[in-house]
Amino acid sequence: MSVKIFDTPEVQDFLKTVAGFDQDGGSERGKQIMHRLLSDLYRLVDDYDVTPEEFWSSVSVLNALGEGTQFGLLAPGLGFDHYLDMRMDAEDKQRGLSGGTPRTIEGPLYVAGAPEAEGFARMDDGTDSDAEVMWLTGQVRDVDGQPVAGAKVEIWHADSKGGYSFFDPSQSEYNLRRTIITDSEGRYTARSIIPSGYGVPEGCATDQVLKLLGRHGQRPAHIHYFISAPGHKHLTTQINLADDPYTFDDFAFATREELVIEGKRIEDPAEADKRGLEGPFTEVVFDVELARTDAPELQHRHKRPRALESEEAASQAKV
Ligand SMILES: [Fe+2]
Repeated sequence: MSVKIFDTPEVQDFLKTVAGFDQDGGSERGKQIMHRLLSDLYRLVDDYDVTPEEFWSSVSVLNALGEGTQFGLLAPGLGFDHYLDMRMDAEDKQRGLSGGTPRTIEGPLYVAGAPEAEGFARMDDGTDSDAEVMWLTGQVRDVDGQPVAGAKVEIWHADSKGGYSFFDPSQSEYNLRRTIITDSEGRYTARSIIPSGYGVPEGCATDQVLKLLGRHGQRPAHIHYFISAPGHKHLTTQINLADDPYTFDDFAFATREELVIEGKRIEDPAEADKRGLEGPFTEVVFDVELARTDAPELQHRHKRPRALESEEAASQAKV
């Protein structure tokens, strides 16, 4: 049996009461947004004749997501991270700030406070013996092609099993996480290992939601970046390695054509020797172009909860 009650005065008045419109306290914006959100959901219940059983099973999924701190994982899977990027791209365009390397999603696995190095850093702790050595390098330039010396390049990525240090307690502290300050030519170089792609854990709440949609929860091998320099727009981005089965089928929608990078396998012992390596390796080159801006708020990453990044540290980062 299907009934339609959403548009009745009784339901409309009820929504206003639920959203606290008749109360003095609270946040005006919070009330407006909650009112809109609840109105959309109530309407949905009416339109799709959602049964109590369906409603309460959704509540169970939400509880499971919260228990597993998985909202940060489901959010990119439902496209929210990419949608926010699309909005920021549109804002940049409106401000005349287009150009430069495109942004893409941050994901939930950044950890603040990684060791900092000038020009070069080794990112792996040497224990991942299955992994291919990765020589990751590039130049940070402005939109006129001029090198940006002293830019802060923060890099983090997964190991050969798709796990991230901190979240994967079997890895050493800050393994595969470094901050590299570019040299006088704007260059940064890291010795690391080729990361593996990864998927959301089988059977977890995020997986259940994706399966309901007939979707997988796999990501291609990728490397995350924050890049910042005074006078330039902060860039949150990541590169997806080419030739991964999921390069163009990322459940988190982070892939952008310009950010797909093909690693180059180098077997010449002389080239390995030049870099202090013992055998063949894969070179990954990612040059970055930063847009200019005088607006201080655009020169820093936006606030969000991040591992080991306190409110205090976040506000200091803004100074
Ligand atoms: Fe990631």
